[in-house]
Amino acid sequence: MNADATSGKVKKDGQGNAGNAELDLMTKIVSLCKRRGFVFQSSEIYGGLKSCYDYGPLGVELKRNIAAEWWRAMVYKREDIVGLDASIMMHPKVWETSGHLAGFSDPLVDCLNCKERFRADKAPRAAASTTASFRKGGKASGEELQAPVDARGYVCPVCGAPTLSSERQFNLMFRTGMGPVDPLSDFARSIAGKDLSAEDLRAKLEEAVRSTAVYLRPETAQAMFVQFLNVQQTTSMKVPFGIAQVGKSFRNEIVTEHFVFRSCEFEQMEMEFFIEPGTQEHWLKYWCDERVGWFRKYANAPERFRLRQHDEDELAHYSDDCYDIEYDYPWGWGELEGIASRTDYDLTKHSAASGAKLSYFDQQKNDPTTGKPGWRYTPYVIEPAAGLTRAVLCFLLDAYSEDKGVDYEGQEKIRVVLKLHPRLAPFKAAILPLVKKDGHPEKAREIVAEFRRAGINVSYDEQQSIGKRYAKHDEIGTPYCLTVDGQTLVDGTVTIRDRDTATQTRIPVASAVATVMTRLAQGE
Ligand code: GAP
Repeated sequence: MNADATSGKVKKDGQGNAGNAELDLMTKIVSLCKRRGFVFQSSEIYGGLKSCYDYGPLGVELKRNIAAEWWRAMVYKREDIVGLDASIMMHPKVWETSGHLAGFSDPLVDCLNCKERFRADKAPRAAASTTASFRKGGKASGEELQAPVDARGYVCPVCGAPTLSSERQFNLMFRTGMGPVDPLSDFARSIAGKDLSAEDLRAKLEEAVRSTAVYLRPETAQAMFVQFLNVQQTTSMKVPFGIAQVGKSFRNEIVTEHFVFRSCEFEQMEMEFFIEPGTQEHWLKYWCDERVGWFRKYANAPERFRLRQHDEDELAHYSDDCYDIEYDYPWGWGELEGIASRTDYDLTKHSAASGAKLSYFDQQKNDPTTGKPGWRYTPYVIEPAAGLTRAVLCFLLDAYSEDKGVDYEGQEKIRVVLKLHPRLAPFKAAILPLVKKDGHPEKAREIVAEFRRAGINVSYDEQQSIGKRYAKHDEIGTPYCLTVDGQTLVDGTVTIRDRDTATQTRIPVASAVATVMTRLAQGE
């Protein structure tokens, strides 16, 4: 597996030393993900496709559970937010109007020494005119070279060379073509017999490709702006109200890093909350508190989630204020969710470009400029935008723990426990026959059927010794193990073992489903 964790940035302590224990954690998570079936490298049998990942049988459950909890908090528990599931490909005008076609780009640079391609804004800084030392070709065995750092003030993140190409803007949107037209044939026809410069050829090619171009969405947000009227009119929602969406987004990231933290294909959980102009300060604070509270509710270490306000120079052109929810990753604090006050930028832009009146009429209010009853305005927007696949990584990091203890044979060993919140855990319970005989499997299967009838995802597991099965379910985060033993057939009870404390009690089989359901509902 391509464990970006081992090549990524290293967390520094107060003395500037790399935190190996922290990096170790990332390596352990990547290994556990593969070993237990949470996340696999995409197309692994062909050598893998860099930065693309497949969520295995347990990963897909964890991801779905996170999304389901988000949807429950955002949509099912509220009256003021409704859902949307929009198509990934949208009219190209959407991206022209949103500014993604012209501006959604990162500054790209090539290292002339080791050939690394990297983002200028993320490169290590060095004072201009100082001298940087580096190895020829970037190899440890290469000749030692020196060169002055130019006025741009950064060096190659891999070999440290200041010998770099000029910066060029690289658009992060994936482009593809729609329709039964081959733009390359059009291109070939348009240049046939002409003697064109490289620049003219490039322009002709761009023209041909553009004619059929559609883009994979780089965020789910835009669909909620362009469907604002349809949603508002069909639901009669009154401002303030929101539209929520969970889905795939795609960005041709120059640098993909830290396993699923930054990948080219990922999932987002975004909500656009439409509000009255002038109320954005109130709602931004409201959504910051709600969202950071949501993450902390499922966390073992809530203090590793924090809010950070953007500096003035970090704000996007459409935003008048913005906070990030950050997580304390093994390599340092980093973004998990952005909560932006987006003003009326998006609705105004899409109104002007499409001709649709993306506004709201409030019959109860007087127009503040004329004083007359009824106020038509373009709503402002507060947008909590979270990464779902990034949240999978955060909750795995938060849940991973190693307890020292003794195993079922009395041997000292480290017990790996994934202390996932029970509502996020892939299996809610494991039903285990103590032995594969004496009627234990039959009784266990009856209990499994009860759980499945109740819609609870459980695992039936009869392979290996009971101790090994407990260890496996600790490692994949199953909060409860119910064991059928000899006594079960006598008095109708099973043991229920708690993952985090490893303690066991006996409960009646008849109330097993209700017991687990009650525990799952705790903290609601
Ligand atoms: N509509 C606003 C928006 O998309 P963003 O900060 O670019 O804002 C929101 O993205 C969240 O999506 C981020 O906080 C992050 O969790 C996630 N995200 C963005 N790019 C990602 C990538 N390349 N890989 C994984 N997650 C990503």
